[in-house]
Amino acid sequence: MKKTGTFIVIDGGEGSGTTTVSKAVVEKFGWGAVYTREPGGSPYAEKIRELVLSDAAKTSDAETQFALFWAARRDHIKHTIMPALREGKVVISDRFDSSTYAYQLIAQENIQLLDLFWKMREHFLGDAVPDAYILLDVSPEVGIARAKGRNEALNHFDKRKIDFHQKVNKGLKEFIMTKVEGGVVINGEQPLEQVIQETVAVVNEKVK
Ligand code: TMP
Repeated sequence: MKKTGTFIVIDGGEGSGTTTVSKAVVEKFGWGAVYTREPGGSPYAEKIRELVLSDAAKTSDAETQFALFWAARRDHIKHTIMPALREGKVVISDRFDSSTYAYQLIAQENIQLLDLFWKMREHFLGDAVPDAYILLDVSPEVGIARAKGRNEALNHFDKRKIDFHQKVNKGLKEFIMTKVEGGVVINGEQPLEQVIQETVAVVNEKVK
């Protein structure tokens, strides 16, 4: 059965507020909306999340991580995203394949994975092609300062140098603005309430 709901991805660099904004949007939409995240979003994919964000991942290369992010995504789509879309829900995913493009291909400099990326996308996404990708645009300097200011443990991606985060931002912008349909950029450095309001307006427009 085809999907009937609306699938929105919210992505951004470290400290851009994707989690806070995604959860706030879902709250505004009430029971008709579902918050989910990547890596993770289903019980098995959450186990892969632990693996890819653990310090042990530092000994693996970007190709191994690329494969694991796609494996997690496949499970997430099958067990969480598609069932919710079939029920007509608005699914808000905190990160999705836009992050694989930006982190593994651009920031980790593995552009040789590009063809494989599009093949994986075609094979695994099926009907779970997002209706919109919203980029919360925050400069790496502001984002990293925010991430460090939180009382949470930083993962091995958070801890990388500023030029890595600059490449992440470049990759996200490139993917969301030029490679897929439905890309929107929101200035994530505005006051949080404004960012949430603008994001809700975009989601409202996309909901059929
Ligand atoms: P976060 O959910 O706290 O932002 O952590 C997820 C981290 O995983 C973040 O640093 C981005 C990274 N990531 C990738 O490198 N590739 C991916 O495909 C996804 C979904 C996330």
